[in-house]
Amino acid sequence: MSQTLKGKHIVLGISGGIAAYKSAYLLRLLIKAGAEVQVVITPNGKEFITPATLSALSGKPVVSEFFAANTGEWHSHVDLGLWSDLMVVAPATASTIGKMASGVADNMLITTYLSAKSHVMVAPAMDLDMWSHPSTQRNIATLAKDGVEIIEPSSGELASHLVGKGRMEEPEEILRRVEKFFRRSDSLKGKKILVTAGPTYEDIDPVRFIGNSSSGKMGFAIAEEAAARGAEVVVVAGPVALQLKDSAVRRVDVRSARQMLEASQAAFEDCDAAILTAAVADYAPETCSDTKIKREKTGDMTLRLVRNPDIAATLGAMKGERMLVGFALETDHEHENALDKMRRKNLDMIVLNSLRNPLAGFNKDTNQVTILRSDGLETEYPAKSKRQVASDILDEIEKYSKRND
Ligand code: PMT
Repeated sequence: MSQTLKGKHIVLGISGGIAAYKSAYLLRLLIKAGAEVQVVITPNGKEFITPATLSALSGKPVVSEFFAANTGEWHSHVDLGLWSDLMVVAPATASTIGKMASGVADNMLITTYLSAKSHVMVAPAMDLDMWSHPSTQRNIATLAKDGVEIIEPSSGELASHLVGKGRMEEPEEILRRVEKFFRRSDSLKGKKILVTAGPTYEDIDPVRFIGNSSSGKMGFAIAEEAAARGAEVVVVAGPVALQLKDSAVRRVDVRSARQMLEASQAAFEDCDAAILTAAVADYAPETCSDTKIKREKTGDMTLRLVRNPDIAATLGAMKGERMLVGFALETDHEHENALDKMRRKNLDMIVLNSLRNPLAGFNKDTNQVTILRSDGLETEYPAKSKRQVASDILDEIEKYSKRND
């Protein structure tokens, strides 16, 4: 077996479900692929598989309690969280998923999860009714929103002898996902990427503005995914309430389209690619009043608007060999309008999301996109979390730039 995971530190979290017997085989696969694995098991997990088996396979004592039984030594979840390059929770029971989603830190597995700086994957395993219960689905959605990668359970015969969705994914498939993560984790090393995110606000007076409902979620997800792949990332963000989870991403906050243009142009100078998710206001008031406009004095009013600069088109005109990716949010003639924008703005790719799809667009945690490339290739994706959409977009960008090498 090739040493695809040589030198990688993996925390394998095991919670109390019958699928824990498969974790021993997963552990063996990870070790054979060259990873150093630290097992953290919940008290219930130990009822399904013994720590002796797991420590024999991993070559390390298994961590379960906050204090070691024989020496009383404190197990530092903080150190473990920092040590790990990846944390995989397999199996993840409904209870463990619920605790992870709400931060109930009553065992070593959850405290390690809360301290982990690394990427986290969960492989759920439970009965079909537990899996489809709204509470489990809510918790899964929360984890996905927190950036946790969900390895969906498969369908088949369950421990209850019922047949349906809930079986933990097979260890070989989990290994494949782990290998893919590490392959991905330096696929953009050495690249510099600009992302624009959020809305722009065009001030009318000190208390009023023209804006839109963009939350920045799509742009921040792309920035974080690009950073996770090793890129140096700068986000030029309009007014959004979000915080970046990855402190390595450089953030430049702006308010108006003009400020966004200035910051984006400066950052684009030494970038290899730009991904423009921002919902930029196309128009701004011609003047902005220094003082609050008074209703009583003004009566009806007419606001004269002037066109804002087009950031995408400006970067398109200066891009040279650099890759430029835009977004299109349309209500009608979506496909046609997206293609037209790609051509006019000199983009290499445009990501079309529709306002008509309830799982796509402003302020949603999910998006449903079609990626159109300037060479005519098009791929339509199902609705996914914005982080997974970010991953699809970056996969597509990587494929496209390799084609041009
Ligand atoms: O932020 P979220 O709540 O997560 O929502 C994400 C999103 C819906 C805002 C995002 O997915 C999206 O679709 N962004 C583009 C929305 C948009 O304004 O599209 P547009 O069709 O108006 O613009 C086309 C492209 O040109 C976009 O890449 C835009 O950033 C860019 N543009 C537009 C106008 C302008 N003056 N300058 C620009 O750079």
